[in-house]
Amino acid sequence: MAAFFTWNDSYNTGIREVDAQHKKLVDIINALYDAMSKGQGNQVMGKLLEELVKYTVVHFSSEERILKANAYPDFAAHKKIHEEFTAKIMAMQKDCASGKVSMTLSLANFLKDWLKGHILGTDQKYVPFLSAKGVK
Ligand SMILES: [Fe+2]
Ligand SMILES: [Fe+2]
Repeated sequence: MAAFFTWNDSYNTGIREVDAQHKKLVDIINALYDAMSKGQGNQVMGKLLEELVKYTVVHFSSEERILKANAYPDFAAHKKIHEEFTAKIMAMQKDCASGKVSMTLSLANFLKDWLKGHILGTDQKYVPFLSAKGVK
């Protein structure tokens, strides 16, 4: 069965740590989708959403550390985009935990589309800058 969110080489940034983290985020979103399709309960979904929030925070802080260390000119704007998404998924997790909303296909699609758009758009923007500095 094809994965819900398939990794594509165009997502690569060439920075090992970032690519490994992006792949792990894709894996968590696929696990969420699978759990949802199998009709897993809120407890399983809640755990996966919690994992997604935690790992997103880990990834964003790694990426921000790399951008800051290399004096990336768009650092502040990039960090702000991270903060907005983090706030959104934290609220989503809270709503799922309290039973206010449940995981739906539209939530899974939102997560996939956001991450895909961020990796291909906002993240790809730093690639030429960091590769010119020899960051791998
Ligand atoms: Fe980013
Ligand atoms: Fe990223």
